[in-house]
Amino acid sequence: MILLICVIGLLRFRAGGVEVVASNDEAANSGHWSVELRNGGVSAMHMTLTHENTVVYFDMTDIGASLLSLPDGQCRVDQFDEVLKRDCWAHAVEYTIASAETRPLEIKTDTWCSSGSFASNGTLIQTGGWGDGYRVVRYFNPCPRGGNCDWIEAPNALQEKRWYASNQVLPNDGQVVVGGRGEPTYEFVPRRRQDEGTYKLPLLVDTYEAGAENNLYPFVYLNSDGTLFIFANRDSILLNLQTNSIVKKFPRMPGDGSRNYPSSGSSVILPLTFEDDFHKVEVMVCGGSPPSAYQQAQLGNFLTALDTCGRLVITDANPDWQMEKMPGPRVLSDMVILPTGDVLIINGCQQGTGGWGLGRSPVLSPYLYTPHNANWQIMAESTVPRMYHSSAVLIPDGRVLVGGSNTNRYYNFTGVMFPTELRIEAFSPPYLHSSQDDLRPSSVTGLPHQRDRENPSGQSGLVIYYGEDFTISFRLPWRGSYRRDGSSLEYRLNAPPFCTHSFSQNQRQLVLKATTSGYGTFRWARITAPSSAVVAPAGYYLLFVVHEGVPSSGTWVQLLPRD
Ligand SMILES: *[C@@H]1O[C@H](CO)[C@@H](O)[C@H](O)[C@H]1NC(C)=O
Ligand SMILES: *[C@@H]1O[C@H](CO)[C@@H](O)[C@H](O)[C@H]1NC(C)=O
Repeated sequence: MILLICVIGLLRFRAGGVEVVASNDEAANSGHWSVELRNGGVSAMHMTLTHENTVVYFDMTDIGASLLSLPDGQCRVDQFDEVLKRDCWAHAVEYTIASAETRPLEIKTDTWCSSGSFASNGTLIQTGGWGDGYRVVRYFNPCPRGGNCDWIEAPNALQEKRWYASNQVLPNDGQVVVGGRGEPTYEFVPRRRQDEGTYKLPLLVDTYEAGAENNLYPFVYLNSDGTLFIFANRDSILLNLQTNSIVKKFPRMPGDGSRNYPSSGSSVILPLTFEDDFHKVEVMVCGGSPPSAYQQAQLGNFLTALDTCGRLVITDANPDWQMEKMPGPRVLSDMVILPTGDVLIINGCQQGTGGWGLGRSPVLSPYLYTPHNANWQIMAESTVPRMYHSSAVLIPDGRVLVGGSNTNRYYNFTGVMFPTELRIEAFSPPYLHSSQDDLRPSSVTGLPHQRDRENPSGQSGLVIYYGEDFTISFRLPWRGSYRRDGSSLEYRLNAPPFCTHSFSQNQRQLVLKATTSGYGTFRWARITAPSSAVVAPAGYYLLFVVHEGVPSSGTWVQLLPRD
């Protein structure tokens, strides 16, 4: 009987490259969902994971009373607030993963549709927003559980209004902030020279569509030669940030659709690998809407989203888009690079666009995409629609935390098609199923080199240095069914991104070179850290040991230059 169930559990139907899992044991093959918080207090419009294993999420000040009050009777008084002139409610939350506790954080100026990234010391640097937040830079130094870290705001730290911009961390530990509504420029935070101004970005003029925009929250990536890749609407370039000149224009992405806000598709760069010294960089863009979808949605006509993805190797001499089809149309989704190197496409809907209340027909099933064979699998359905303003981040245990959805002024929970959503869910990919436990690596521990015993930053986690080897120990299960020689072990680093509006800024994975030793359950790996800050900007990364496709929990390492 048990054998029969196992056999049925492996039956899969293949349909045009799309694998539809039909199984008795759904969770083993298509993952499962859990509700982590029934009331997350604040809508998770923006979401990030910190190296203290907390998740910081926030929405905006100008939206009314959330369900989490500010501590100690604090209130934010703002005569220009369109909803509440005296707002005693939090609009940002620190969520501790281990205990599922929330703590209200205080945002003083409006963070609506803003951007961000992490500094090499783990400080979250968030930029811009709307109104009184247009030019603000906010710093959040993550603290351990029980701490009282909160936002520190630097007014007028930005030179232009950054509303719907995208950020990229740079090799010098600064970041570049690209675009924003009505702002076809970019600037550096901090400025590289005292007198440095902003730079014009004609791509954001050329790709702008009157009445629809379709080029906000551009997809930006640091290329392996230090240039900046920028994709807006359906066009893309490489920018030399030293000379501020365009060094390459890529072919237009085919498919007659727009890929950036409000036609919000999503994007990642596929994992970089030591095998070519992290040279090859491949961009993937999925979903989006027909260019007129925004105007049509305002007329009550919700166009079907795009069902295509494109892959472009931006380091090729003559690159062109390789197009493929997703199992269905999708807009307003998030793409998450899993510890295995597979990509999860989660959240979003089939019709309409970004913008308040303009999405229809939620897609409740994530898709799991395997880059090396372009295979698609349809995962288990959630019961919670995740429309505009939803978010998703990978957390250290390998689950994907999901929050947010269509926001409504006054935090309306009734009488609207998609009410303000405060449930925080977690999606567990199939690799977390107990049937995989006899492969799962555990107890991953960094063995510091003698001279690194005193962690120079005084913070948690193992410090690793560019190009240098470091050693970890870990365990494989006692009675594992794995290959005894431990081949098919992989070591992958994930940078924690800043997720909002279907794009996880600074999301990046690196596959590291390693030699594994030990036998049976006890293993060691001597791993070589990424070669330079150009391929992997300094900062905290989650290190996963992946064994035949089954990852350990992530361990934080801090990648730094040795100086
Ligand atoms: C980390 O670096 C940022 C940016 O350089 C700085 O503003 C912040 O104060 C630093 N945080 C700590 C805890 O030193
Ligand atoms: C939202 O809530 C406010 C206050 O309760 C109410 O006045 C308004 O009509 C609601 N809007 C919708 C679309 O239901």
